[in-house]
Amino acid sequence: MGWMYGFLCGAIVLTILRYGPGLWRDWRAFQAWRLQHETLVPAVALATAAPAPVPTPEPPLTSYELPAYDPTILAGAGLALKNPPSNIAYIVKAKLHDPEPYWFPLGWSYGVTDVALNSAKFVGDVNHVALTGFTDSGKDSWAVQALLYLALMNTPDKLQLAIVDGKGGLSWLGWGDKAHTWLLAKRIDDIRPAMEKLKQERERRIEVLEAANCEKWEEYDKGDMPLLVVFVSELMLLQDATSKTELADWLNTELTSSRAAGIRYIVSGQTFTRMDTRWRSQISLYIAGYQPRGDADEPNTTFTTAELKKLGIRRDGAVIGVPPSELPVPPDGAGVFTCVQGRMVVTMRAPYYDKAHRQMILSKLPDKPKKALHRNADQALHDSLLRNLIGLDTTLPSTASSVLPSGDLLPVREAAALSLGKGMEADLSASEKRGKMAGFEPHPLTVNGVALPVVALDEVPLDEQRRIVETAATVSSRGQLCQALYETRGGRKYTIVQIVCDAAGLLMPQAKAA
Ligand SMILES: Nc1ncnc2c1ncn2[C@@H]1O[C@H](COP(=O)(O)OP(=O)(O)OP(=O)(O)O)[C@@H](O)[C@H]1O
Ligand SMILES: [Mg+2]
Repeated sequence: MGWMYGFLCGAIVLTILRYGPGLWRDWRAFQAWRLQHETLVPAVALATAAPAPVPTPEPPLTSYELPAYDPTILAGAGLALKNPPSNIAYIVKAKLHDPEPYWFPLGWSYGVTDVALNSAKFVGDVNHVALTGFTDSGKDSWAVQALLYLALMNTPDKLQLAIVDGKGGLSWLGWGDKAHTWLLAKRIDDIRPAMEKLKQERERRIEVLEAANCEKWEEYDKGDMPLLVVFVSELMLLQDATSKTELADWLNTELTSSRAAGIRYIVSGQTFTRMDTRWRSQISLYIAGYQPRGDADEPNTTFTTAELKKLGIRRDGAVIGVPPSELPVPPDGAGVFTCVQGRMVVTMRAPYYDKAHRQMILSKLPDKPKKALHRNADQALHDSLLRNLIGLDTTLPSTASSVLPSGDLLPVREAAALSLGKGMEADLSASEKRGKMAGFEPHPLTVNGVALPVVALDEVPLDEQRRIVETAATVSSRGQLCQALYETRGGRKYTIVQIVCDAAGLLMPQAKAA
């Protein structure tokens, strides 16, 4: 029997050796043909059948997949995440039960035991911010994600934005029509008037605060003076539009006095090397991207390369802060920033939202009211936007457990030793316990039965609108109103009175005639 098995095995081996290569070739050819056939057939069918395209409805935000956080770290960037979440719903969801006024995300890193979202607040935390980095390091993208988040979470009566771009405004397409946008300077010619407008607004606010006996904006409680966040996209363009000394003087004055007036600046540029940097004493947070030269580290963070290296080492020896000149070069290092606040140095990667995502978020923000025609978006509208964003129905839940589908998000933990003092606050379960949607109750500003604002805020600031509506109840004509408020009966001030009265239906001329 043994010899028969031997014979059979030998025959099989010989057959494989003889015909095997040919059969293998035929099999591969068949597979290639099949692949080609399968990919071609639908394309041909589509071309011939060509059914009328069915318009697909815009996918609701909730249709976005929210996979768990990817904790991979980007090499050479401390503990910055390589692929931070690219959907704003992550952040909205994570902060939903712990809303803090004027909170904004900085970037993602790995904390001590988990993924961490580093953040800051424009009230009770940081004042003005400096944002720097080599070309294509992601400065504008950083600002867009921060301002989008701020606008999502704060209604236009609480937050207004001024964007001084000067490069054509391509990063800010669509922002000009939004109720949050108080100023959008797109072209180089717009820069000087924008600087002047900012100065006037600061002066006007100081006058209002003085009249209300307030030492600072935080004390002012009439609810009609929104925080104004100013983003200066490229500081060198402001210098080109003015001069080195003029810019330095303007920055010094504005940054020094704006804080008390409820104005916060994010001053951006490739580097502040060789600029007059007296104003830097007003900066409380540095967000610094890649720099090709080591001597650029100090002007952009206040620390030298060697100091940053020392400060960037955590107690357990982990490198969490990397000097800008040693960060990965863009495009690999795009969106990677070393944040410096006081003596805390942390490197992180900002979330990046692609164009479709940015535009979708923008489309959900309230538009500017048409001139004096209808009212601005109120808090209730804003709430419904947020609900839509995170996939809630109209009823707000009382606990986070009903909001967060189990397992779709890993808990974000505070980056304990490395957070800039404000890493995402502990894990979500702590905020779940609070459960309340504090800060999301509708509270439209109503004065003498008129819900404000009645006209766009860039046309007439909210506090101005309130004063006009308030005073209208005490006088019998618009001329008297103008006189009472501005000690004049004509000019630009009268036009403002007219615009607001028309929109609110106050002191209508025909009513007087009747
Ligand atoms: N957080 C990020 N993660 C990954 N890639 C990013 C990130 N931010 C920006 N990028 C990439 O870098 C590119 C440049 O970004 P952006 O225009 O914001 O840079 P910039 O610093 O403003 O450039 P410039 O100095 O030329 O104005 C983006 O188009 C994008 O591809
Ligand atoms: Mg840019």
